[in-house]
Amino acid sequence: MSDIKIWKGNSTFILAAAGSAVGLGNIWKFPYMVGSNGGSAFVIVYLICILVIGLPVMASEILIGKYGRKSPINSLKKLSKDLNLNKNWYFLGVLGAIAGLLILSYYSVFAGMAFSYIFKIFPSGLENPSNYSSNYFGSLSSSPVILIFWHSIFLFFTCLIVGFGVVKGIGRSVNILMPFLFIFLLAVSAYSAYVGDLKSTLNFLFFPNFSALTPEVILSAMGQAFFSLSIGMGAIMAYGAYMPEKQVIGKTVLTIIFLDTFVAIAAGIAIFPIVFSNEYLEISAGPGLIFETLPVAFYSLPFGELFSIIFFILISIAALSSSISLLEPFTAWIEERKIIKRKIIVLLLGLSTWILGLGSIFSFNIWSEITFLGLNFLELLDYLTNNIMLPLGGFLVAILVGWLISEDFLQKNIKMNHLQFSVFKFFLKYVSAGSIVLIFFYSVL
Ligand code: TRP
Repeated sequence: MSDIKIWKGNSTFILAAAGSAVGLGNIWKFPYMVGSNGGSAFVIVYLICILVIGLPVMASEILIGKYGRKSPINSLKKLSKDLNLNKNWYFLGVLGAIAGLLILSYYSVFAGMAFSYIFKIFPSGLENPSNYSSNYFGSLSSSPVILIFWHSIFLFFTCLIVGFGVVKGIGRSVNILMPFLFIFLLAVSAYSAYVGDLKSTLNFLFFPNFSALTPEVILSAMGQAFFSLSIGMGAIMAYGAYMPEKQVIGKTVLTIIFLDTFVAIAAGIAIFPIVFSNEYLEISAGPGLIFETLPVAFYSLPFGELFSIIFFILISIAALSSSISLLEPFTAWIEERKIIKRKIIVLLLGLSTWILGLGSIFSFNIWSEITFLGLNFLELLDYLTNNIMLPLGGFLVAILVGWLISEDFLQKNIKMNHLQFSVFKFFLKYVSAGSIVLIFFYSVL
């Protein structure tokens, strides 16, 4: 038992899991996805998916990790052995470990960009800051060398933390950094709501407009829910292995989901009022959205330079506490085989991810014309991971925990009262599993 590491106190698990969930997905991706997918229709489907799919699936992932006390792959092995299930269930963990590396490869490219903005100060006295900011983003994304530089730096930090291991590296860093991010984001959204067009923003985000609702939008909203909550690939399962025995899963999941959703909406309120009050900024700008809009907001702000620096530091930190969870499952699994040291494993995985990341970098510039089914490398990777691999992973978790595990076992490990348990089980069994399948086939066929 001596090599089992468990975090002390309840807060480290919550911060680590919230640290994993809250990241570029909330601050960078959510706003641009909302902007490109028609606003409120996307937001509403997203929120429903968070509740009916995200919540039960996240609880199930934690349950598996906490029971197994190992990497997702080996926790799944243990679970299927102890409960006499098919022994191939561990493939779910393998799928997740691979998905993690694929996601990390492009995540690191965007996180690197955010990191580079810490050092970017706009010249003063600009007549048209939005134009300047769009041009600047354009020149950044057309330069492979600069992107590779920042991608390398970000990946280096990710590997460094994971290399030090879960307690020292991951546990400690999130405790300090997360609270800062919340406060700052609130301040920026308040400012932006005050100077920008809040009314159009609220309308756009929440006033139901279902004309924009297509099967594609529904699938993207579901994919985004998985991505934002870090579920479907074992990241949360890996952290579940370090959860203190006494910590209650249900309450913990509610807290994480609340924080994640709160940050996504706050990011929307920080960004859209500026877009709506500025004729040069496009709501459907895509992945460049925050990089083109936020600097403009800061530009007009007293002490804007300072705020911009702080804000991009916070985004980088949020990205870092997420990226480590993308690397942890694969690393933990190989480490358990006890052949290679953790630091070497991280080095090798980091190197492979770095190479894969080049594909995403080139999608902005030298490979931008190379497409398959109309999507470039980056878009393909994004589609494959978010819209296929994560929902598939989530579906399998729902089947395993909802249908195959005995009621007694589940009841004993999840520790809910009778009513909570019945609701949880019903959702997991029918609603989560069912809606993943429905959405998937509805949009693909
Ligand atoms: N949830 C993170 C974000 O919103 C990204 C992330 C971290 C992730 N770990 C994950 C996404 C695991 C999917 C699966 O930025």
